[in-house]
Amino acid sequence: MDSDTGTRDDWYADAFGALYPVVYARRTAEAARPEAAFAAERAGLGPGDTVLDLCCGTGRHAVHLAPRVRSVAGLDYSPALLELARRRCCGPLRLVRGDMRRLPFGPVFDVVFNFFTSFGYFLDEGENALAAREMARVLKPGGRLFLDHIGADCAVAGLVPHSERTEGDFRIVEERSLAGGPESRRVNKMVTVLRGGETVGLFMETVRLYTPEDLAALFTGAGLAVEALFGDYDGRAPGPDAPRMMLLCRKGGA
Ligand SMILES: C[S@@+](CC[C@H](N)C(=O)[O-])C[C@H]1O[C@@H](n2cnc3c(N)ncnc32)[C@H](O)[C@@H]1O
Repeated sequence: MDSDTGTRDDWYADAFGALYPVVYARRTAEAARPEAAFAAERAGLGPGDTVLDLCCGTGRHAVHLAPRVRSVAGLDYSPALLELARRRCCGPLRLVRGDMRRLPFGPVFDVVFNFFTSFGYFLDEGENALAAREMARVLKPGGRLFLDHIGADCAVAGLVPHSERTEGDFRIVEERSLAGGPESRRVNKMVTVLRGGETVGLFMETVRLYTPEDLAALFTGAGLAVEALFGDYDGRAPGPDAPRMMLLCRKGGA
């Protein structure tokens, strides 16, 4: 439990339920298409590759990766989102419920993808490092990791403390704040979902913000070589104005 915000250690068990597709209605499979294409190209994805979409959610990236490769596994913790992925995806896609800190795989993947800020969730930084080590462990020698995290400086500078919007029948109210010092900064978001004036969902999200150097050091410490950093899906360099912080890493020993 975070003593300042009251955030439970396992906040992610509630935050990615049936209302997630309402709150993130704009994060569609169509929006994921160019992201999957960019990541696939930068990771040098090939038709014989075995791929893991780690924290696959509804499978909106996996559906674009699957036609390019031999097989895709999608792993996620949320039964609700896995069910949506199951309905969306067919073909060479295996969906698995699991926790990113304990992946139920050996070193079998040519490429691991982790899209859309699906890292830095654990309040104990040792657990985030454990998730990074798991990503490295399940790669074959020479395998690549592509991870898309939030651009920290941009997130801090552009933080909107309060916003409200309508998605179909739902009203979504989001309260955002920063926590921790420069060494351990997190962005917290409290989401309230209302329908017909009644609250139908209330949950917290919290994500660790990393400098490019800190994120690179974390994955280097996990045993990967960082080959490239990007600040967005247009290929720009990371920096204060870059909305994303994307990492391409390689496991040695090929
Ligand atoms: C921001 S969403 C992104 C989902 C998907 N990558 C996308 O782009 O739509 C984060 C995902 O991480 C999953 N997740 C959260 N905690 C997890 C954990 N401990 N292990 C595995 N997946 C987890 C959530 O269920 C959710 O699907």
